[in-house]
Amino acid sequence: MSFSKPKMNAEASLAQIIRDIQNTLCYLKQSGCTGFNCSEESLKTLSQLRLPSLDAAVGRETLADIRTDLGDCTRCGLCKSRTHIVFGEGSPSAQLVFVGEGPGFDEDQSGQPFVGAAGQLLTKIIAAMNLSRERVYICNIVKCRPPGNRNPASDEIRQCLPFLKRQLAAINPRVICALGRVAAQTLLETETPISRLRGRFHEVMGIPVMPTFHPAFLLRSPDKKRDVWDDVQQIMKMLE
Ligand code: URA
Repeated sequence: MSFSKPKMNAEASLAQIIRDIQNTLCYLKQSGCTGFNCSEESLKTLSQLRLPSLDAAVGRETLADIRTDLGDCTRCGLCKSRTHIVFGEGSPSAQLVFVGEGPGFDEDQSGQPFVGAAGQLLTKIIAAMNLSRERVYICNIVKCRPPGNRNPASDEIRQCLPFLKRQLAAINPRVICALGRVAAQTLLETETPISRLRGRFHEVMGIPVMPTFHPAFLLRSPDKKRDVWDDVQQIMKMLE
């Protein structure tokens, strides 16, 4: 008789209980409850809590493992012109992951995702969701800047995508928000236009995916902000 499987289930249940406690405390805090410790600091600690033994028990690699494996990547030509690899940042146990297209100039310079003009708009959208950049996770389809901000080529996406999928598996969020056409079409493996994909949930790796317009597009077409707000509200409902 083997005891390894029941132990794994118990560990997985414990991981789920911790996640439920995090969710409940966040919900109580957002509902205005007081009288117990749900300070920003405690919630941040809880949202970043990761027990390596539990990750190992459920066979989940860590973001650090994936970053180490990526190394000083030369798997595609984007490595020749990049300044920094933009791996992604935020909570390793985020309930919500934003996936963009690829780093632009500012991101290539800093090594952080979404820190330029579009990133500032994304930060405002996240704040409007009563979240913060620290509580979500932000990453891209490709981790190196395509020269001149061109769209990533299919071979570049093919090399990079397995790392993004491993990141998504490691984080195991409750929702993914795909920002813009490239992110949505790549994740959903479709050529359907973003205007027809957005506004409803799809699924990738068993995780609900909400496609919406890219913040850079919103900067050019502010009349589309209403649509993005509708999409974001559906995400907030899903996270309730
Ligand atoms: N646009 C993206 O798609 N990703 C970034 O990180 C920045 C801008």
